[in-house]
Amino acid sequence: MALNGAAGVVNRKHNGRNDFLPTKNGKNGHTTEECTNNKQESAPNHIDRLSRESFEEVPLYTAVMTYIGFYMLIFLGYINELFFTPKVAQEYNREGYLPLYDNFEKFYLRYVFRRVRDCWNIPICSVPGAEVVIKDRVTHDYGWSFEFTGTETKCLNLASYNYLGFAESEGPCAESAKLAIQKYGIAHCSSRHELGTSEQHIELERLTARFLGVEDAMVFGMGFATNSLNIPALLSPGCLVLSDEKNHASLILGLRLSGATIKVFKHNNMASLERHLRDAVIFGQPRTRRPWKKIFIMVEGIFSMEGSIVHLPELITLKKKYKAYLYLDEAHSIGAMGNRGRGVVDYFSCDPRDVDIMMGTFTKSFGSAGGYIAGSKRLIDFLRVHSHAACYASSMSPPVAQQIITSMRIIMGEDGSSDGVRRIAQLARNTRYVRRRLNQMGLIVYGNDNSPVVPVLVYMFSKIGAVVRTVKKKKLAIVGVGFPATPLMEGRIRICLSAAHTKEQLDKALLFLEEVADSLGLRYSQRPRSPLPIIYGSEDEIE
Ligand SMILES: Cc1ncc(COP(=O)(O)O)c(C=O)c1O
Repeated sequence: MALNGAAGVVNRKHNGRNDFLPTKNGKNGHTTEECTNNKQESAPNHIDRLSRESFEEVPLYTAVMTYIGFYMLIFLGYINELFFTPKVAQEYNREGYLPLYDNFEKFYLRYVFRRVRDCWNIPICSVPGAEVVIKDRVTHDYGWSFEFTGTETKCLNLASYNYLGFAESEGPCAESAKLAIQKYGIAHCSSRHELGTSEQHIELERLTARFLGVEDAMVFGMGFATNSLNIPALLSPGCLVLSDEKNHASLILGLRLSGATIKVFKHNNMASLERHLRDAVIFGQPRTRRPWKKIFIMVEGIFSMEGSIVHLPELITLKKKYKAYLYLDEAHSIGAMGNRGRGVVDYFSCDPRDVDIMMGTFTKSFGSAGGYIAGSKRLIDFLRVHSHAACYASSMSPPVAQQIITSMRIIMGEDGSSDGVRRIAQLARNTRYVRRRLNQMGLIVYGNDNSPVVPVLVYMFSKIGAVVRTVKKKKLAIVGVGFPATPLMEGRIRICLSAAHTKEQLDKALLFLEEVADSLGLRYSQRPRSPLPIIYGSEDEIE
């Protein structure tokens, strides 16, 4: 059953167009145009500054070369497929069946992706802290298979979502997690509905609600499942969801399972969102023209492929104006954004009660696993009963829960130290410094100046592999991202900053990246560059 009628927080219905069509005599006494103009005039400058982001366009020459390069790879792939038998299992005796795998996908993985396969899924054998130990591998058959060499390499790690540096094998988090195993064991082996709820879960939920400044919270053992298994409890056919085009797969799966109607708006584009909202309110459901049961806006705090930050203040204005519900996934922003680490709500100084459903994961800033949904007590009470994750999935394991409790208390300063504040400030400083240095080098860097996810555009598929391999030789680990995870044209490497990084480590990494920018021709930016030296931690970096 969906939430209709069960909980006040999500049972407001769109009862007809008059609720939403702005009239001179309406509640706010403004027409749409007046509202927009007023908003622009009175929008505080600092909000504009906080939302400022850059998506510099690809130079035409690079665009053409990227397409040519990609189609050459495809062409070579077809030649390869024609003349060399692949060393992969074939499907036999399947007459009458549809093929298990999509033909293009198969071809792409075997003949295009395989050329750079060594740059992905590299096994590690240490905590992914400021440094990480990777297991060395070799391939003797051009990427069809890999063998471990038996050696390991310690690399400077710019590849993990360890925003606040809590991925540590020693210290208060690791110690308390060890004690939790001794006290409760490794797992509860039961769902929350049955025997899987412990005092630790209750403590963590109360702490999470207090941390976020909302009435209640519920925690789940897996971040992905927090989205994919809770969204179907909140939505049903007859609901409309307006979803950002760059939303994560867990949100998309949850939406598909819910049976709600999905419309996609342009990434972080409030004009596109408003057009959809207005149409939804005016036209209602297709065919019947009845009002939608609920209208949801679904967004992320930080978009992890783009490095952009949701325009939350504008979004809240829109959701109030059109009486929609807001579902905010703070997987990457919780802990990492805001002076107090409370995510984008804190970053923009918004009221957490303006976000109807707050979701986040503990996998990134807390160095643990799992996720939460937070909001009003009625919402959480509803989920406690109706969530598939509460009913069927195993509950969060004790050491995982304890890691979160200890790290969250540190962020909140409840451990009696200023370590949490220090980590938040260090991450902000590192982010500003690295982004500014990369801009100064003439690289095209996407996203918001304050986002610790830093995508650096290399465009060409082959350059992704070349960058990852070259810096790995210098003991620097970074992630490459390409088609189909990004548009064909927009291959990139992605740097993830952490409070665990020191300035010296960042300078070393920047030096390697500068060398690689020269040798592989990555200085694509056509914007003017500041010749002035960038000082780490100078006042203007921590705006
Ligand atoms: C926006 C977003 N939501 C949810 C998830 C799923 O979280 P987890 O990896 O903890 O399962 C991710 C994972 O990266 C994410 O980026």
